[in-house]
Amino acid sequence: MNDQLERLNRLPLRTNLRGLTPYGAPQLDVPILLNVNENTHGVPADVQAAISVAVTEAAAGLNRYPDREFTELRGALAEYLGHGLDATNIWAANGSNEVLQQILQAFGGPGRTALGFPPTYSMYPLLASGTDTGYIIGKRADDYGLSAESAALQVKELQPNIVFLCSPNNPTGTGLGLDVVEAVYAAGEASQTIVIVDEAYHEFAHDGTPSALTLLPGRERLIVSRTMSKAFALAGARLGYMAAAPEVTDALRLVRLPYHLSAITQATALAALQHRTALMADVEDIKEQRDRIVSELTRMGLKPAASDSNYVFFGGLDNPHDVWQQLLDDGVLIRDVGIPGHLRVTAGTETETIAFLTSLERILASQATLPA
Ligand SMILES: Cc1ncc(COP(=O)(O)O)c(C=O)c1O
Repeated sequence: MNDQLERLNRLPLRTNLRGLTPYGAPQLDVPILLNVNENTHGVPADVQAAISVAVTEAAAGLNRYPDREFTELRGALAEYLGHGLDATNIWAANGSNEVLQQILQAFGGPGRTALGFPPTYSMYPLLASGTDTGYIIGKRADDYGLSAESAALQVKELQPNIVFLCSPNNPTGTGLGLDVVEAVYAAGEASQTIVIVDEAYHEFAHDGTPSALTLLPGRERLIVSRTMSKAFALAGARLGYMAAAPEVTDALRLVRLPYHLSAITQATALAALQHRTALMADVEDIKEQRDRIVSELTRMGLKPAASDSNYVFFGGLDNPHDVWQQLLDDGVLIRDVGIPGHLRVTAGTETETIAFLTSLERILASQATLPA
């Protein structure tokens, strides 16, 4: 046990936090950062200018607490999502991580459980332990797929209070059919299970991919979570949101801290929403890079998963950690998600994508020529 852990364990920490390690994707100073699925295209100049003006205006009023209800922002998010939603359906917080945490605070907690289907977003179990919610590990097929039948059966058997469905799933990048969401929702009827569909990456899905937003009418236990961290290139601003029945937003009001969304955050998000044309053009470019990564990795003999996100999960590597390290030595940071034979890479700009592919091909060729 290292010193830090020893000192931590001397504190009267809650039992379910003992031995845990915090979320910690490496933040390294290297030229090409493709490890946490950020939008590497940067904030377009017109969006930067609009944010600067909006933040300057907000600065004049910083002596006052912000609008606790962030009504204008909720209206703008509803307008962006469409599907007949209005401000009463929307809630936001500092990143969708915080939205998910508030959902667990409201609907999870001691004696309650949340079900996730690993490999999936690594924060789900951490958010569960942080709110003293039991985390149940659900099962996927060997190819990491999740069928409606299997997911519904598990919900019926386990009767969790909350289910996380990540679509497209992180780290695999693959989307879930709406039949899975419908089946899980129906299977959770008896246990009154809250169903969260985490659509953090939905904007990167192939054209025509339906959103779980279409399923909201008549389903008061369904929550669709989104973020401005990815398509909107605003990971640094921290704005995540969800759409659900108005009574769900009322439930989250019970657990949110007063004034949790700063006036600066609200102004930034509103400005980006109002100037989203250039941002959405970058999303199209990222989708092209993503598709190129999939076809190039296939050409190299690797096994990329189908991706509806801004990243690609790929298998077929004998020693993924070695490849990860050699890419890093070349100045390219990608993600070792700890799954045997696999790595995950974010689709960046064209230049970054070329650098990644060139470096990877050289590494694979050098491994192939190594004596056995
Ligand atoms: C699937 C998924 N959901 C939610 C998040 C949280 O994003 P944020 O808190 O920046 O909105 C992430 C971040 O990478 C993610 O991959």
